[in-house]
Amino acid sequence: MDIKQVISQMTLEEKASLLSGLDFWHTKPVERLGIPSVMVSDGPHGLRKQDQTGDHLGINDSIKAVCYPTACATAASFDRDLLRQIGEGVGDACQHEQVAVDLGPAVNIKRSPLCGRNFEYFSEDPYLTAQLSTSLIKGVQSRNIGVSVKHFAANSQEHRRMSSDSVVDERTLREIYFPAFESAVKEGKAWTVMCSYNRLNGEHASQNRKLLTEVLRDEWGFDGYVVSDWGAVSDRPKGVHAGLDLEMPASGGINDRRVVEAVRAGQLDEKDVDLAVERILTIHQRYLDNAKPDTVWDKEAQHKQARQMAAECMVLLKNEDGILPVKAGETLAVIGKFAKEPRYQGGGSSHINSFKVESLLDALEGVPGITYAQGYDIVSEEPDEELIAQAVEAAKDAQKAVIVAGLPDSFESEGYDRSHMRIPNCQVELIRRVAQVNPNTIVVLYNGSPVEMPWLDSAKAVVEAYLGGQAVGGATKLVLFGDVNPCGKLPESFPLRLEHNPSYLTYGGEGNTVVYNEGVFVGYRYYDRKQMDVLFPFGYGLSYTSFEYSNLTVSADAIKDTDTLTVTVDVTNTGKVFGKEVVQLYVSDRESTVFRPVRELKGFEKVALAPGETKTVAFSLAKRAFAYWNEDLHDWHVETGVFDIQICRSSRDVALSRAVTVESTVELPAHFTLDSIFMDLVKNKKASQVLKPIFEAMSSSFVGNDEEVSDVAKSAISDEMNAAMMLNMPLRGIISFGGGQISREQLEAMLDTINNG
Ligand code: BGC
Repeated sequence: MDIKQVISQMTLEEKASLLSGLDFWHTKPVERLGIPSVMVSDGPHGLRKQDQTGDHLGINDSIKAVCYPTACATAASFDRDLLRQIGEGVGDACQHEQVAVDLGPAVNIKRSPLCGRNFEYFSEDPYLTAQLSTSLIKGVQSRNIGVSVKHFAANSQEHRRMSSDSVVDERTLREIYFPAFESAVKEGKAWTVMCSYNRLNGEHASQNRKLLTEVLRDEWGFDGYVVSDWGAVSDRPKGVHAGLDLEMPASGGINDRRVVEAVRAGQLDEKDVDLAVERILTIHQRYLDNAKPDTVWDKEAQHKQARQMAAECMVLLKNEDGILPVKAGETLAVIGKFAKEPRYQGGGSSHINSFKVESLLDALEGVPGITYAQGYDIVSEEPDEELIAQAVEAAKDAQKAVIVAGLPDSFESEGYDRSHMRIPNCQVELIRRVAQVNPNTIVVLYNGSPVEMPWLDSAKAVVEAYLGGQAVGGATKLVLFGDVNPCGKLPESFPLRLEHNPSYLTYGGEGNTVVYNEGVFVGYRYYDRKQMDVLFPFGYGLSYTSFEYSNLTVSADAIKDTDTLTVTVDVTNTGKVFGKEVVQLYVSDRESTVFRPVRELKGFEKVALAPGETKTVAFSLAKRAFAYWNEDLHDWHVETGVFDIQICRSSRDVALSRAVTVESTVELPAHFTLDSIFMDLVKNKKASQVLKPIFEAMSSSFVGNDEEVSDVAKSAISDEMNAAMMLNMPLRGIISFGGGQISREQLEAMLDTINNG
């Protein structure tokens, strides 16, 4: 179809009609021109296709589908292939079900453990989020199904989600909140982007031209269409001009008419309308040209895949005395409602109608020596003495007790934020009481976001399983029994207490205003800089085997910021069983004129190793790995200096480190004035050259060689003080202290040479 040609045949009304949905999930057709309606559906970790009544809250049933592990879990895999496979699976389901666009992944950053939607998001770290979500995108789109990477941008809370205004400085946006979207566009070639509900720096995301056109298209080269989050549109004509192409769901024709009126009144250029139509039709045509409704959607095969994946996402947080894995023949008391009815996904628009669910008890069927007690209920937080007593009885008689605990649905969901970081009281009490009678107590957690663990001492082992999808029970068994060696790492810090979180003081905002005043210091970037104890750091996770690192090499000791550095490191499985290790590479800037985190994740690889086996892992580091966002340059910038390349076991545990000097090839623009101080001037090459004679002459002049200055006075002024006085002095100080030797005109001429010469 020649799309431009078709558009030229449309009336303004027809074009405007294409800019909003037909209903909840379909776009409008234009039958006379052969333009069909297409369908879009949620969501990131499985298909939520609603055949009947549509809603965006996960209320009405959708077709039976496969629920893969949710993003909070898959992020812990640190495994790009795993995400790609989920994408392929969801893509196949979409092809089978004739859904053109899958509304995901959701790549917002976990600013606080409280965000109700954290289970749908990946990480507190932008690099990890970007790498994993882009793999998922590639997987979905390899099936010629579009993704809709969401929610653009800075949408890290549910409270007042349709009205809040995220106030975020440019550097923080670029370094923390944008990278996953940037990668989705540049590397993932995302077909569509979904704008968020919130405002960003005062303007609705749905009509934010800076966001939707200047950054997304002009800078990153996005060539797909932008769809509104469901109901995010405020001023539709303004949105069309800003770059919001498709409004969802239908607005009953109201906003279409406003678009027509705005064009007729000369307030909106018809070319903007044409462009939006062209983008929408181009993407849908890509799907239509490649539609394969006969694609096989093998749900049973995907279920098995989901089980293995969930196991490889689990994070072993504690394993005292090697209590795990459970040995064959050991008797086990399996305790907890979630062992029978697992919580494996979150509530809201991503909610999948799973075609089957596998609990831990299902998976243990036929295994001898298992007893079960419910232990707690999820209706009330209050401990139920009868349920606890049954659990204690079961635990007394078993060699080990496995308590499956976690967060009930009501504790975290799309639509609202959590108010605290605790698991229900009844579960805390249960863990304590069971541990009193059975010291071999193991806790498995099903939750979408970090929890406080005042009960940690009661448990000999803790497995963080997150929300692991419909096969989570089978996966739990695989890990508990050692059929899968745990190899997940925490994609977020677990603070000791909620109050330690950097956004704690202002999370949720005042009224609609939410100031992201911790800036780039999100998650481990904050805890590490503050040297605060955490419960478990970012990147942490144990294994049933052990790994050693050796031979860290760098391709050069000194590079320019235009070069690429190759880093290699050997990793050896020094234990007795097969295992996978996540090799994490962080970069640390030793000295910087801007505030920077201690270290930042810039590379990771997951490697599989047999006992005794060694593999060499290689990383490539380009400019971005060393850079920060410079607001004057409006670009990434590397400051000349020494950087440490660190191979770590977590953000807190450096195994090996090598120093590399990186030289900047970019001179920061000079905007010096007479008020600029020497401290800044001497850092600029040109300024140092021009001002060198003055600087030398002046350095000693605060004490002066003046005979009249007494020795007592001289000794009272230290060299440090002298230097500090000089460095803090503005250029105009030469007039005040230079004894009239240099005129204002001369200084101005020097400035002109520095700034323009
Ligand atoms: C959510 C989106 C979702 C949409 C459609 C919205 O409420 O924020 O993530 O894709 O509904 O269900």
